Amino acid sequence: MHRLFVAIRPPEEVRDRLIDLMDDGVAVRWQSDEQIHLTLRFIGEVERPAAEDIGIALETIRLPRFRIALAGLGRFDHHRRGVLWAGIEPREALRALAAKVERACQSAGIEPERRAFHPHITLARWNGGQTKLDPLVERHAGLRSDPWEVDRFILYESHLLRDGAHYDPIADYSLVDPS
Ligand code: 2AM
Repeated sequence: MHRLFVAIRPPEEVRDRLIDLMDDGVAVRWQSDEQIHLTLRFIGEVERPAAEDIGIALETIRLPRFRIALAGLGRFDHHRRGVLWAGIEPREALRALAAKVERACQSAGIEPERRAFHPHITLARWNGGQTKLDPLVERHAGLRSDPWEVDRFILYESHLLRDGAHYDPIADYSLVDPS
């Protein structure tokens, strides 16, 4: 089985900016540089033929390149686990791309995604409660970056290893030059 997801990889200067705000003094699992991405669609475990069909369906996507920027910091606190994330703006073109990716996945036989799309870049994960993050979240609530151009999206395979998740890019797909 292959555990797949489709994502955008931010450029190095944006990843550096995110890594700079990670505080080792707070006991959460900070994402490594290799793990930083913006998920468009989590697919989950599929057999090899389905993975190949998804790869082919993603190739049919034609959309112009677009620009996005980091916008704010926030946290999701679920019952027993939490996530610190960086927000993204604007979201229209991202939503259009995520919708095309969703359609491509469905055309390859994947069950529809029922959850709403909330674009974010995960920066840290933790289990249980985490209050020591509050000052950091407050400090960076106004996080903004210069916009960057999204010129491709990537099909990743996730390997859940003892030292955390490893994300291997297995295919990438170019967006079209708008000019
Ligand atoms: P997250 O960062 O908000 O946890 C790879 O696991 C990527 O897919 C992560 O960015 C993760 O989002 C996203 N994802 C969405 N739904 C998931 C799920 N049910 N299990 C694992 N990852 C999921």
